[in-house]
Amino acid sequence: MAGYALKETEYRYRAYTKDGKWETGELTTDKYLHIHEGSNVFHYGQGLFEGLKAYKTKKGTVQLFRPDLNLIRLNEGLDRIVAPRIPEALFFEAVEAVVKANIDDIPEYGSQKSLYIRPFVIGHGMNLGVKPSEEYIFSVFCAPVGTYFAGGLQALNFVTTDYDRAAANGMGKVKVAGNYGASLYPRQQALDAGYSGVIYLDPSTHTKIDEVGAANFFGVTYDNVLVTPKSSSILPSITRRSILWIAEHMLGMKTEERECFIDNVSEFKEAGACGTAAIITPIKSITHKGKVTTFGDGEVGETVRKLYDILLGIYYGEIEAPEGWVLEVK
Ligand code: PLP
Ligand code: COI
Repeated sequence: MAGYALKETEYRYRAYTKDGKWETGELTTDKYLHIHEGSNVFHYGQGLFEGLKAYKTKKGTVQLFRPDLNLIRLNEGLDRIVAPRIPEALFFEAVEAVVKANIDDIPEYGSQKSLYIRPFVIGHGMNLGVKPSEEYIFSVFCAPVGTYFAGGLQALNFVTTDYDRAAANGMGKVKVAGNYGASLYPRQQALDAGYSGVIYLDPSTHTKIDEVGAANFFGVTYDNVLVTPKSSSILPSITRRSILWIAEHMLGMKTEERECFIDNVSEFKEAGACGTAAIITPIKSITHKGKVTTFGDGEVGETVRKLYDILLGIYYGEIEAPEGWVLEVK
C-alpha cells in the first residue's frame, strides 16, 4: 500500500441517515461502501472529510488533539454542501470507538508516529438533478501514519502555481473533496519539477500567499512576528490556530493574521507549513515565476523548531496541554 497510510486497520464506524435524520451507527470490518451509481458524491461533489490524530503519550495514555474543533469545522462544511450536521454525541462515539477498536495499531510513544483518523460524510442515493441528496453516510476510518512530507523536521522547497484550489468565495474554507481534486494537477506539476509541493496564491489577484497544498502557511518576520495569511479561500487550520496561541502565550511572540504578498516574501526569515498531516514542515525556499527566495540560511529556523518541539510535546503528553486541547480516550 503506497503513500501516507502505513497500513490498513480493521475497524471503521458507519452511521446512516433515515428520512434525513442521523441514526446511531456501529463498528464494522467492511472497508467497502455499496452505494448507488447515481449518488451525489460521485457527480456533484457532495462529500466532505476531516482529519485528526490519536497519539500514544509518554504516560501510556491515548489522546486526541482538539477534536471539538474538527467537529465544528465538519458541521460548517456540511452546512455549505446542504447536508445534515453530525450531532456531537455521534461524532465522539464514532471517533472514540474507532480509536479503541484499533488501539493496537496506534504507533508507540517515541516513534514520532500517530493514528490518523478520517471522518467523512457523503451524500448518496439515486439523484440525477443537481440538488442535495436525500440520504447520507457518516463514516470514520483510521490508519497509522508517519510524516506527510519528507521525514521529520527537514526544510523543503515549494513552488507557486497559476492554478487555484478554490475560488475566492467558493469552498476553500471547508474540507470538501473537490478542493483536493482541484489540487492534484498542480501538485503533480510541482513534484515533476522536483519540488515538495505547491504554494497557492489568492484566487482573486494571485499576489498573496493562500496555502501550502494541504496545509496552511506561516512566516516569521525579522522582528519576530508570527504571520499567517488572512484569506477567504483557505482552510482554517486547527494546527495554525494552535501555533498562533503557542507563539503568543508560550513564546511571548507577537502574531498577525494578514496579507502575505508573494513579491514581499523575503520579509520572512523563517517559513513553514502546518496541518494535522503536515504537522510543522519547515519551508526552505519558495520559487515564484522563476525567482527563488530562500528563508534564513535554508536550514530549520529557531522559531520553527521551537513551535515544532512544543506542538509535538503537547501531542505526546510531554508538555502540559492548554486547557481543553487534548481528550483522553479511555
Ligand atoms: N489546509 C488544507 C487545504 C488542509 O487540507 C489541511 C488539513 O486539514 C490544512 C490546511 C490544515 O488544517 P488542520 O491543521 O486543521 O489539519
Ligand atoms: C490533514 O492534515 O488532515 C489533511 O487534510 C491532509 C490530508 C489531505 C492528508
